[in-house]
Amino acid sequence: MITLSQEQQDILDGANGQFAAKCMRWLVNWGNAMGATNMIRVDNVMPSNLAAMGHILDGAAKGQIRDYLGFVKECCGSRVKCTTTQHIARFDMEEPDIFGIDQEQLNLQKEIIEVARGAGINLGWSCTPYLQGVVPLPGQICAWTESHAVVFINSFLGARTTRNGGESAIAAAVTGWVPAFGALRDEGRKPQLLIRIMDDVSLDDDLDWGLLGYYAGIKANIRTPAIVGAKPCRIEAAKQMCAGAAASGGVTMIHVVGVTPEAPTLEAVFPEGEPEECYEYGATQVAETLEPFSAQPGHPVDTVYFGCPHATLQEFIEIADLIEGKHVHAGVGFYVTTSYGVKCQAKRMGYVKIIEDFGGRVMADCCPLQANYYEKIHAWNCMATNAVKQAHYARGLLDCKTLLGTTERCVRAALNGYWE
Ligand code: F3S
Repeated sequence: MITLSQEQQDILDGANGQFAAKCMRWLVNWGNAMGATNMIRVDNVMPSNLAAMGHILDGAAKGQIRDYLGFVKECCGSRVKCTTTQHIARFDMEEPDIFGIDQEQLNLQKEIIEVARGAGINLGWSCTPYLQGVVPLPGQICAWTESHAVVFINSFLGARTTRNGGESAIAAAVTGWVPAFGALRDEGRKPQLLIRIMDDVSLDDDLDWGLLGYYAGIKANIRTPAIVGAKPCRIEAAKQMCAGAAASGGVTMIHVVGVTPEAPTLEAVFPEGEPEECYEYGATQVAETLEPFSAQPGHPVDTVYFGCPHATLQEFIEIADLIEGKHVHAGVGFYVTTSYGVKCQAKRMGYVKIIEDFGGRVMADCCPLQANYYEKIHAWNCMATNAVKQAHYARGLLDCKTLLGTTERCVRAALNGYWE
């Protein structure tokens, strides 16, 4: 059972208002269920419910929309207690024409901006806050929602967060506290299994890292894996690996030996010797992991999508290099999603124009899986993407066949209209 300090008890008793008391009750109940015995101060929060939500707006009556704004106002009724940045929204306010966002949704989104500003919340509307200047440092206590970002900040930045839902994250922001369990504690960060990368595996492309993460997630499920044999990688590869592990499993953290701040050596990760559960990740395992996202050459492709997790500026450069001066095949949709900050940079550098001249579109703040334009996206039959997480979820959520390939291979599909 959690023991509360006087300050925490006062919040629970309503000293900071009824909504803060409700938030503290949520956190205490959650912490008790998870075996926590105390609360700790939170430094950085990423909630997920401060946007015009698809399930609210999809055919919703006006009254429901007003109700939802009421909930947002409740969440934003007082200043948040620490850095708070919102997860993805459901559309790009500056590109409402792409999938036909109506005025009512735009108005609600604008009202949410006003309300959030008053609470001191940064409406980053991105799954990659760390690309927009929200970078928790080693040891900082966080309450983040986006699953790959949870793995990323635990594994690559040395910050600490459990996997949060929208309610627990907003409760952390409102109260300034989180229950101390799981990856917030030293003992909750220890790995239970080891994945050894074999010599016949190359980790040259970001996709290779995405597949490695996906394999790790399958083996680990909700446990913490360690991986040995990986070299330091670029941030685009790291986000793919974390997204893969968070999609196929419920992974919170990966110890990448030699990369993760807490994992300088294999001996440091497993001081009592290697665990019994140990897997070899070789070319056979790579092929098996990729197989569900493969098709015979010539398979038609009607959508090519990049930007899951949200694209970096470097990814824009690489996409632009491949498509400049060319045009997408008739009938193929070409989309890149990113954060608003990166989109602004990409626009200034001319990359957005290159993509639009190619026949594609760039969307900030959203992604196909988290979108308020279901009908348009549900018409997609076969998506080619370099993003393992999008490929994993789109099969079920969008009822869409998904093919995984390198950025270059996906661009060839956009040019040809079929998978090579
Ligand atoms: Fe981000 Fe959507 Fe992928 S929220 S991680 S782009 S599924």
